[in-house]
Amino acid sequence: MATAASQSWVLGILILLSVLQVVHASWWYLGVASSYQFLAYEVRQSDKILDDACASLQFLQPQQREICNHDVKLLEVISSGAAMGIEECQHQFRDRRWNCTTYNNTSVFGPVLHIKSRETAYIYAISSAGIMYSVTRACAKGELDKCGCDNKVRRLQEERGFQWGGCSDNIRYGARFSKDFVDSVETKQKDHGSMNLWNNGAGRKTIKDQIDIQCKCHGVSGDCSVRICWRKMRNFREIGAALKAKFDGASLVRFDKRRGRLKRVSGKQKRPTRKDLVYLADSPDFCEYNLKYGSLGTRGRQCNKTSYGLDGCTLMCCGRGYQTLVSEEVEDCDCKFYWCCKVVCKKCTNVMEKHYCN
Ligand SMILES: *[C@@H]1O[C@H](CO)[C@@H](O)[C@H](O)[C@H]1NC(C)=O
Ligand SMILES: *[C@@H]1O[C@H](CO)[C@@H](O)[C@H](O)[C@H]1NC(C)=O
Ligand SMILES: *[C@@H]1O[C@H](CO)[C@@H](O)[C@H](O)[C@H]1NC(C)=O
Ligand SMILES: *[C@@H]1O[C@H](CO)[C@@H](O)[C@H](O)[C@H]1NC(C)=O
Repeated sequence: MATAASQSWVLGILILLSVLQVVHASWWYLGVASSYQFLAYEVRQSDKILDDACASLQFLQPQQREICNHDVKLLEVISSGAAMGIEECQHQFRDRRWNCTTYNNTSVFGPVLHIKSRETAYIYAISSAGIMYSVTRACAKGELDKCGCDNKVRRLQEERGFQWGGCSDNIRYGARFSKDFVDSVETKQKDHGSMNLWNNGAGRKTIKDQIDIQCKCHGVSGDCSVRICWRKMRNFREIGAALKAKFDGASLVRFDKRRGRLKRVSGKQKRPTRKDLVYLADSPDFCEYNLKYGSLGTRGRQCNKTSYGLDGCTLMCCGRGYQTLVSEEVEDCDCKFYWCCKVVCKKCTNVMEKHYCN
C-alpha cells in the first residue's frame, strides 16, 4: 500500500521535473522538488511509464538515474536527504550575510558555486551528510530492501556494563551509499573535483564522529541488571552545527597538479585532516548585490543592534548603517486571579525595535 502511494508521488515529481531540463544541474534538485508533493496527487491518474519518467531526469548522472528505475522508494529517501541538506544550510546561515540562498531551478544553490570557497565547501559537506543520514535512518526504519539495522555491532566485544542489542544505525551502509551516489559526479583529477570529494567525505565523517550510544534498562522489577545499548545518530541539527564550526575553521588549500591532490598553501598552516573542510579560493564579502557570484547583498536585512557578531548591525550592514523601525505590541500583563473564578489582566504596551541594513 505504502509503496503504491509513494510510487505515485514520485511518478508525479518525475513528470513535473521532466519539463525542466537544464544542462548544469545537480541531484540537489531532488530536494527542491520534494516540496511539490502536492502535485503528485494531481497526476496520480497518469499512465506515463516509470522508465520514461526516470529517463527524463536529465539533471541526474546516468548512474544516479539507474536508481530511479530500480528503487523508487530509495529515490524518495534521496529526495528527503537532499531537502534536509538544503534546510540545514539555510538554518545554520540564517544570521550571516550569505544565508544559503537557493533558486527554484536545477542549479539550486546558484552562482555562489562559481567560487571554490568555504560556502561551496559547506554546501557539499551538508548535502553529502544529508544523503547519508536519510538513507541510514530509512535502513533502521526498515523502509529499504537492501539494508536494516547494523548487526555487526552485536559481534563487537562485550562492553563493560552493557550488552549490544536493539537497532543500531547502519552508518556504514549510509556512508557507502552516499559515497557511491554523491561522489560519482566528481573527477579527482580536477581541482574543484578534488575539493568537492574532500568536503563530501568530511560531511560523512562528521556524522560518524557524532554517533551516540543509547541504552535501555531491563531487569526484574525495574532494576538495571541488564543494560541493552545501540548506536544512534544525533539530530541532523547537531551535524549541521558541527559542520558550521568546521566552516569557520576551514583550511585554504591548493591543487598540486603533478601529484593530483590538495596541499596546504603554506607549511606554517595546520595540515587539514579528512574531517576538516577545505577550500581553494577566498569568499567575497557578500556586502553588495552581485549575481556573478550569487551575492544578494545585505540591504534590507534585519540586524541585531546589540550583537558584536556577524549578525550585528556593524558587520551585517558592512558599515553602511541601518534604519530602525519601531512598533508597538499590546500584551496582557499583571494578571491577577480572583476567587472564584476569574483572571483579570492589565494591558501593557511593548515598544519593539527592529533594525534593517541600509
Ligand atoms: C517553483 O517552480 C514551480 C514550478 O515552476 C512552482 O510551482 C513553484 O511555485 C515555485 N516555487 C517557488 C518557491 O517559487
Ligand atoms: C537559476 O535562477 C537564478 C535566479 O533566477 C539564475 O541566476 C540562474 O542562472 C538560474 N540557473 C539555471 C541553471 O537556470
Ligand atoms: C537571505 O538574504 C536575502 C538578501 O540578502 C533576503 O532577501 C532573504 O530574505 C534572506 N533569507 C532569510 C531566510 O533570511
Ligand atoms: C542580539 O544579540 C544579543 C547579544 O549577542 C543577544 O543576547 C540577543 O538575543 C540578540 N537578539 C536577537 C533578537 O537575536
